[in-house]
Amino acid sequence: MKRIIELDIEDLAYNGQAIGYDNGKVTFVKGGLPGERVRAKITKIKKKHNQAKVLEVLIKSPERIDAVCGHYEVCGGCIWQDLGYERQLFYKRNQIESCLKHIGGFDEVVIDDIHPSPEKFFYRNKMEFSFHTCAPQYSTRGFLLGLHERGRFDKIFDISDCRLQSEMSNRLVIFLREEIERLSIPVYNLIEHHGFLRFVIFREGKNTGQSLLVLVSGAGDFVGKEELVASLQKEFPILTTAVWTVNDTITNIAKGEIREVLFGPGYIEEEVMDLRFRISPGSFFQTNSRQAENLYRRAIELAGLSKNDTLLDLYCGAGAIGICAAGAAGSVVGIDIEEEAIEAAIINAQINNLDNIRFFAGPARKVLSADPLKDMKFDVVINDPPRAGMHPKALKRLIEIDAERLVYISCNPATFARDAAELRLAGYSLGRVTPFDMFPHTMHIELVAHFEKKG
Ligand SMILES: C[S@@+](CC[C@H](N)C(=O)[O-])C[C@H]1O[C@@H](n2cnc3c(N)ncnc32)[C@H](O)[C@@H]1O
Repeated sequence: MKRIIELDIEDLAYNGQAIGYDNGKVTFVKGGLPGERVRAKITKIKKKHNQAKVLEVLIKSPERIDAVCGHYEVCGGCIWQDLGYERQLFYKRNQIESCLKHIGGFDEVVIDDIHPSPEKFFYRNKMEFSFHTCAPQYSTRGFLLGLHERGRFDKIFDISDCRLQSEMSNRLVIFLREEIERLSIPVYNLIEHHGFLRFVIFREGKNTGQSLLVLVSGAGDFVGKEELVASLQKEFPILTTAVWTVNDTITNIAKGEIREVLFGPGYIEEEVMDLRFRISPGSFFQTNSRQAENLYRRAIELAGLSKNDTLLDLYCGAGAIGICAAGAAGSVVGIDIEEEAIEAAIINAQINNLDNIRFFAGPARKVLSADPLKDMKFDVVINDPPRAGMHPKALKRLIEIDAERLVYISCNPATFARDAAELRLAGYSLGRVTPFDMFPHTMHIELVAHFEKKG
């Protein structure tokens, strides 16, 4: 029997849920804020903690505000929109402190104030919207185009007023829904895996004004394609380019092989630190362009580069950090596991006329252990691993490189704290940690930290 309980919310956890104690047992609660008393239903009982969902807020926190987005109650996107922005920043910084203390065993690290995002809304340069066929009670059109309902991989709701990307992105989604219905273009069912149109990806160069629409379909002919493209160009003359890609696997990921560039060059450019970066349908680029620039500036400042230094940009993606740092360094080497990202990085280096940067595709540990890099000396490393942090063998290899300075960028304070503890054991001392808010209203946190070799 799932119990109904009353409890006081005391904190926010890294997973974005609230924390309370039910008869002393840690309970992660969906929907509450610190300082609130709530009535909640236990949804999962585990050995060390329970999970619960708020049914009613009995005593409201003064930190609670009205969410501005009309989709807030149902959407899985901005789960902290009902918490004042200053308080979001406070809890994010606290989580870094708590991870460093409890996971890493660091008691006295200096954690700077978190840098707020330059934009609180409409800050994303990329959004992915999903199609899903549905019964008439959900939409008389017979399909939906929007985002996932909170916690549901199998439920989509129609978006019309999302605050994450731009007004244009909302208008595009509304327009596509109407046009696809008018032209009777078949839509995919993401549970039964049949149908045609699967995803819409919209990417914008926030600093260049360019925009890219990607229509991702399953296998088959694109019936109605010409009419759709003509009406798109008429309605959105500002749209720079559009591409059709195909994902005919059953994995529900918004990525596919390019089938056709529908119009324009098939990619856009974004500007960061006065440099140009090409963004194609599938290439990685930090989603909050303006805050990415602040993050990169800080990382490069901490790297303390001179023209005598060889810099390793580890987990380089499409090369953005290494390219931004190349002017200050003697030479730069970038490594990323994704071939496509490395191809983009090479193009990006060319666009910016850089001849002191080289890129290698492959797993970090392997590339660093093979020719031509295995005996190379690096003075500085900027390390930006994925959320899981560094693989223990990659971390061991990084330690063997024995760079004087190491700048660690992380989007997960828990794995950062774990890796930082290993670096300390290897003789690195952790300097300041600077948090950046890349994703307002979500629980995501980004940080940059500086390590120096002792002695
Ligand atoms: C947080 S992103 C880095 C972003 C990049 N520094 C930037 O600012 O644009 C992490 C990158 O790690 C790469 N990656 C994941 N596992 C890897 C591995 N084992 N070896 C090398 N790169 C890996 C991913 O392809 C991804 O581009």
